[in-house]
Amino acid sequence: MEHTVHLSKSTTSRRSFLRRGLAVGGAGAISAGLFANGLPAFAEVESGGLTPGDAAILRFLSALEILETDLWQQYNELGGIQDSEVPGGTGSAAYTKALKVLDGDMDQYIHDNTEDEFTHFTFINAYLMSKGADPVNLDKFRTLPSSKATGAQDIGRLTNLMQLTVDTSYWTKYRSRTKNPDFGDTFPPAVPGLLKGQFPAIPRDNNDLSPADHIQAIANTAGFHFAFIEQGGTSLYPSLAQRVIHPEVLRILLSIGPTETQHFQTWQDKAGNAPALTDPTNGLVFPDLNASGGEDTQTNLIMPEPTIFLSRKFPVVSIIRPTATEGAAMGAVKALTDDGLFIGQSDEFFAFLRKLAKQADAARHGG
Ligand SMILES: [Fe+2]
Ligand SMILES: [Fe+2]
Repeated sequence: MEHTVHLSKSTTSRRSFLRRGLAVGGAGAISAGLFANGLPAFAEVESGGLTPGDAAILRFLSALEILETDLWQQYNELGGIQDSEVPGGTGSAAYTKALKVLDGDMDQYIHDNTEDEFTHFTFINAYLMSKGADPVNLDKFRTLPSSKATGAQDIGRLTNLMQLTVDTSYWTKYRSRTKNPDFGDTFPPAVPGLLKGQFPAIPRDNNDLSPADHIQAIANTAGFHFAFIEQGGTSLYPSLAQRVIHPEVLRILLSIGPTETQHFQTWQDKAGNAPALTDPTNGLVFPDLNASGGEDTQTNLIMPEPTIFLSRKFPVVSIIRPTATEGAAMGAVKALTDDGLFIGQSDEFFAFLRKLAKQADAARHGG
C-alpha cells in the first residue's frame, strides 16, 4: 500500500507522468511522436492514462473481485480442489461429497471459478498501476472468522458464508418473457426458504457435517449461492461498461464480464440438481423445482428466455438483465450486503466500499 500511496501522490509531477507513460507498452512510440511535433509532452502523455471515471470503475470492480475471490477461496478450501493453482485448505470430505450430489465435477468447477476471480482482481490492479492509478487492497478488512470445520484455513476473511440469505429470484428473472428488472419488475425466488433466514453455505464446524440432510442442505445453499454471485457479475460488467471512456478499459470490461456469465450458467445448471429436502436442524426447505413452479423453475431451462428490452415497442429479445447503468455499482453493494456476505464487517469497511461504488456510479455523470 505504501508504494501505491506514493504513486498517487506523484500524479502531480510532470516527470512521473512521463516516466510512467514511457514504461507502459506502446506509450513510448506516442511520446516520441509528441516530441517530434513539438506538442506539450505533459498533456499528451497524461492522455495515455485513465480518466478519473475509468479509474473509479476499475477500482470498484477490483474491490468486488477481491471480495469474490475471498468467498470462492472459502468454498475451495472445503469443497474444491486444493492445489498449487488455488492453494489453501485441505478439504472437507463430507461437504465435498454433498456438493458432488449436484455434479460429480463440482470440486473442479469451484477450483476454476476461484482461480478466475483471483486473476480478475490481480489483472485489474496491475492495469490500474500500469496507468499510474491506485490499485485496491482490502487486507485490513480481513477480520471475519473462518469456518472451524476441518479443512478450512484459520485466517481472517472479508466475507461471511455462514449466515447467508440467498436470493434465488435470478431463476425466474431469466425465465420471464414479459418482465425485466430494468423496467422495475420483481421476480419470485425459486427457493423461498433461502430468503427467510440466515443459513450456512459452508459447514461452520464439524458438527455441521451431519445428519446427512443437514450437510446436503448446506451444499444445496452453496449451489444456489454460486449462481447468485455469478449472475451479479453477469449484469455488473455490462452495466458499468456503458460509462467507461477508453476503448481499452471497455475491452477489459467486455472481456471479463462474459466469464461471469459462463460461471453463472454452469452454476444454474448444477443448482437445478440440488435434491429436494428439508433440513432437519432448521426447517429450510429445498423444493422440487420441476414440480413447484412450472416452466419458471424447470431445471433444464437454463438459457435466457427472450424478454422486453429498452422499450416495450421492440420485439422480445434474449438478453442479460438487468443492464441499466444508473446506480449499478451501489446496486451491487446492496445486493451483496442483503445476501449477508458482510455480516460482522466494520463500519469502516462499508464506508470504504460505498465510497468506491459512489465514485464508480459518478463516472461520466459530470465526474
Ligand atoms: Fe470475477
Ligand atoms: Fe465471478
